[in-house]
Amino acid sequence: MTEQPGKEAERALHDLASGVVKAIQSRPDILHHQFVKVPDFSAAICDPHTTPHKGKTEALPQAYRFVDEIVALGRAAKTKEILAQFYAARDLLIWGHAPGYNVDTVGQTFLDNYCHALLTGPDGPLRCHSPLGAFVLFGPNTLYKDHSHAPNEVYLALTDGGQWRVGNRDWQELDAGETIFIPSESVHAIRTSSEPLLTFSFWLEPGEMNSIAI
Ligand SMILES: [Fe+2]
Repeated sequence: MTEQPGKEAERALHDLASGVVKAIQSRPDILHHQFVKVPDFSAAICDPHTTPHKGKTEALPQAYRFVDEIVALGRAAKTKEILAQFYAARDLLIWGHAPGYNVDTVGQTFLDNYCHALLTGPDGPLRCHSPLGAFVLFGPNTLYKDHSHAPNEVYLALTDGGQWRVGNRDWQELDAGETIFIPSESVHAIRTSSEPLLTFSFWLEPGEMNSIAI
């Protein structure tokens, strides 16, 4: 029997999430040299009333224009399987910006060169209370300025060249496949090189995206 479209989507999203979690948990983070455990969300389901449909492109953020270039950049990366799964499932993800980000708080240039694609969480296509998990995409030569939030966070770099700064530490460059743990309320920033960047972020405890201090 053929799977219903909703079930196929749910399976693709769970496979994508499992790949990300496996990559995160397979190596210690570059700052603290500790393995980061991601909370279980195996019971998360696709809500058929809110799952996005293929071809619904009118709401895509400006930075979505970098998706093809990013996936091409990652063809030889350790993360190439996740990138291929991401590309195949891109129309199932929920694309947008953090709700408090607007011209006044982050500026138009940043809004045109940053976006996220939700995978898990209260508003994600894989619905669960926590963890909030999203791909985060940046254009080249972009600075995601200092910000902080209550949940602990882990980032997985999916392409090379991005740099993270946490608290008073120096900038740290992550290769594709490396992770960095951001402790609760730590001020952190991200900047890109002359190439666009794709990362994945999990908030390890429940939290509201509109409460990011930026
Ligand atoms: Fe963060």
